[in-house]
Amino acid sequence: MLKANIAVLVSGGGTNLQALIDAERSGIITSGSIKLVVANNSKAYALERAKNAGIDTAIVLKSQLGSQEAFERELIRVLDEANTDLIVLAGFMSILSADFTNHYKDRIINVHPSLIPSFCGKGFYGLRVHEAALEYGVKVSGATVHFVNEIPDGGKIIMQKAVEIQEGDTPEVLQKRIMEQAEWKILPLSCEKICSLIVKEKN
Ligand code: GAR
Repeated sequence: MLKANIAVLVSGGGTNLQALIDAERSGIITSGSIKLVVANNSKAYALERAKNAGIDTAIVLKSQLGSQEAFERELIRVLDEANTDLIVLAGFMSILSADFTNHYKDRIINVHPSLIPSFCGKGFYGLRVHEAALEYGVKVSGATVHFVNEIPDGGKIIMQKAVEIQEGDTPEVLQKRIMEQAEWKILPLSCEKICSLIVKEKN
């Protein structure tokens, strides 16, 4: 196997997906290739980003499938059909069951917009994470990339990067700084790191 097949799961704007696409183009990611983008929201702008980059897309809706079990069964079907080696959760706003995470043990990574174990777990996603950090009054926050297991944001940490909070920060301003200075850097680097391990393992 020359490269690991990457599938990226998204729900929204997809700036982290864009960082991965750009990293593959610029040669930061060389051990993997993005083969599929799966959204759980048909309006996700991330789908446009994938199409613009010529990457296959799929939409899997829990509302149409009726249950978490059926939703995950369909996810597994599309991911396996694309021979996925690594699943990257990039702003994917749905908690996956132990059945799903066990099925892809050590093959799912996630980016979270705080320094885990702060401001993470159930209920901490998107802007809420930054609201909580500002409310608490921490002076440093950041981002974490970690393996995904059955505990929300509880899997082994792969990379972290700290970002300073500045006087007058709003959740939106902080979110943007953490994306620019941390998420968009450590997600592609982590992706390359894990893909290179997968490729070595399979050869
Ligand atoms: C990112 O900040 C990501 O870390 C966060 O949502 C945003 C998605 O932005 N994810 C979580 O909070 C997961 N718990 P994007 O769609 O532009 O990549």
